[in-house]
Amino acid sequence: MIHFDAQTRTFNLNLRASYYAFQVDAEDRLVHLGWGRRPDDAGEEQVVAGQSAVFPFDRSWSFVVQFRPDEILTFGDVTTYQTTIKARFPSLSRPLAEGEASHVPIRDLRLRYSEYTIATDSQPGYAPVHGLPVRDTTPRQTLRVVLVDPVQSCTVTACYRLTPEHDIIERWLELENTGRDAITFDHCYSASLHLPNGCTELTSVNGSWAREFCIQRSQLTPGSHVVESRTVTTGHNANPFFFLNNPGSAGEHDGIVYFGALAYSGSWQFTFEQLPTWDIRVHGGYNPFDSTITVVPGDIHRTPAFVTGLSTEGWGGASRSLHAFTRERVLPVPAHGESERPVLYNSWEATAFDLSYENQVLLARTAAAIGVELFCVDDGWFGGRRSDRAGRGDWVVSADVFPEGLEPLVAEIERLGMKFGLWVEPEMVNPDSDLYRAHPDWVLHFPGRPRTESRNQLVLDFGRPEVVEYLFDLLSDLVRRYRIAFFKWDMNRMVTEPGSVAGTAIWRAHVKGVYSLMDRLREAHPTLEIQSCSGGGGRIDLGILARTDQVWASDNTDAFDRMRIQEGFSLAYPARTMEAWVTHEHNHMTRRVTSLQLRFALAIRGVLGIGSSLDSLSQEELDGYASYIAFYKRIRHVIQQGHLYRLQRLDEYGSSIHEYCLPDGSEAVYSLVVETHPVGSFRPDPPLRGLRSNAIYRITDEQGTELESASGYQLMTLGFPGELKEYPGYSRTMHLKIR
Ligand code: DGJ
Repeated sequence: MIHFDAQTRTFNLNLRASYYAFQVDAEDRLVHLGWGRRPDDAGEEQVVAGQSAVFPFDRSWSFVVQFRPDEILTFGDVTTYQTTIKARFPSLSRPLAEGEASHVPIRDLRLRYSEYTIATDSQPGYAPVHGLPVRDTTPRQTLRVVLVDPVQSCTVTACYRLTPEHDIIERWLELENTGRDAITFDHCYSASLHLPNGCTELTSVNGSWAREFCIQRSQLTPGSHVVESRTVTTGHNANPFFFLNNPGSAGEHDGIVYFGALAYSGSWQFTFEQLPTWDIRVHGGYNPFDSTITVVPGDIHRTPAFVTGLSTEGWGGASRSLHAFTRERVLPVPAHGESERPVLYNSWEATAFDLSYENQVLLARTAAAIGVELFCVDDGWFGGRRSDRAGRGDWVVSADVFPEGLEPLVAEIERLGMKFGLWVEPEMVNPDSDLYRAHPDWVLHFPGRPRTESRNQLVLDFGRPEVVEYLFDLLSDLVRRYRIAFFKWDMNRMVTEPGSVAGTAIWRAHVKGVYSLMDRLREAHPTLEIQSCSGGGGRIDLGILARTDQVWASDNTDAFDRMRIQEGFSLAYPARTMEAWVTHEHNHMTRRVTSLQLRFALAIRGVLGIGSSLDSLSQEELDGYASYIAFYKRIRHVIQQGHLYRLQRLDEYGSSIHEYCLPDGSEAVYSLVVETHPVGSFRPDPPLRGLRSNAIYRITDEQGTELESASGYQLMTLGFPGELKEYPGYSRTMHLKIR
């Protein structure tokens, strides 16, 4: 509920368990009042009354006034700390007054309150709106507060969209040029957040290719700390979400945790600041690195949404809010309705570039026999792509690989009862390709400089509308011709030479081009599904999830490494979006040997996929695969739709226990994997959560064998008894269902 008190000019945004309030001060600035937990007994109508002195220090406190917590901090309006926006005007919008020297550009911005509106709509996702259908279209309120510069022709609208049931406020800014000259914004975040002082424990993730999502818990100290990506994808080295809490007063299940996640898949930045006042500020949005925003007269620029929220149930509660929000408001629902994510087979680890009709049909037949529902042919099916040195960009089925074309394979896959998926990497080109030979100017490069290749490839210049158009026609034609149900959309390099006809706007133009391609393809082919992949987990964020169905979290499929990668992933993103493959016993990347049980235990924590060379497995092994796949199909609705409780984390006892529980408590999946287990130690048995105390649950194992029955009360107090024989690599997955 949004409330405005016209007397005190105070805005209150009341959500399920949290409030957010700010006030217009005597000089018409928006000044933050507070963001926190609502008292448990507070009714809907209870609001913060505002304060007579919104910020008690006036100009006479010369060194203190800069700490005023403006909702939008602008360069030039009394702060020496990080600002939300910095603008440049090439001229003054009125004649010079006496005593004023003419020196342009004018490099400051003053924003003063003008008016507000509250819109109630059922727009899916965030701003900018992607237009694709989502599961929950219950109308939501958006507060739009219009601020104008008293002198310059510039309007900034601060937007707040509320999803009260998840205590989430989406924040974004709209920059409007109402004058006659272009305005340049040196930087513009989507929002600046003011957190209570002491909120210094930061949870974020870092990593690299094949080691994504490593959880890092650190302590903010006075000064600033930057987490960012400087490429045209989200990046492997960090991911745009964070949790913040007072150290020691929040944990996995309890305590107040502030969280934020950026809905953007390009060059992004979070700046965390601890001020000398101990206040914590978080600025999130576009990365200002090598990038400005020019808004021409009459234009409006909308920033990506910064999804922010507050959990009263610790880090776990923050994850569950983000998960539910993503499932309900972000993920697109394909035209065939929202079903459970299918079990996928992907050919990459089995056949790499060595594809043929024969080997794919062989894999497809075995895949169908063990229960796979979607068969995806990976890299190597097109042009001269027999290795990663040539052919990328020539998205035409290779007659060397499929002499009869792709149609017979597609027909066979469909005859086997599976859907057909295809790997593409549309943003890239190998210099050794017909596309590059025809259009050498279509790649990012700086004239007169060498074009640095990475994995032998260059990046197409999405600053050219004709490139994006060309790709749309090509991809759309592929979908139509081969009845493609699923694209695995890859992107395998970083951008280090962003020379584009779009100038520095390329950082945003690339992301916009990718989004528009995906959105248009989905509109043109409403049953098409897309998986985002960027050399594993390089493009995972709430922006890409608004137009894809799932993501590939990492190229690393080693079960032990997956424990950590997936735990980090689970902080922000729901299991329903995480494709996870079972591959060979002997992992090709880490050389580690793991049991089938452990590999499945990890892969069923997301959307199960298979990547093994099925032709090299014995019948006994294939029977094992089939039995686990059947088990997954029995429980996947709980994993894909349920609430996640991380009952035990790897950093606690070297074991990870996830419980997925349907919101009504009728079913749950208990999943334990052990990474390390010092001999002679005992791992405590954590109580389960979210069940019904007075219900009796039937507990079955992976084979469907009934193990025991127990009451919800018993399970939520004593938990499951651990076993003395636990060892690194031990796993246990159980299904609980009310009798
Ligand atoms: C990187 C992806 O992450 C892999 O799964 C695979 O598709 C290769 N690219 C293909 O080149």
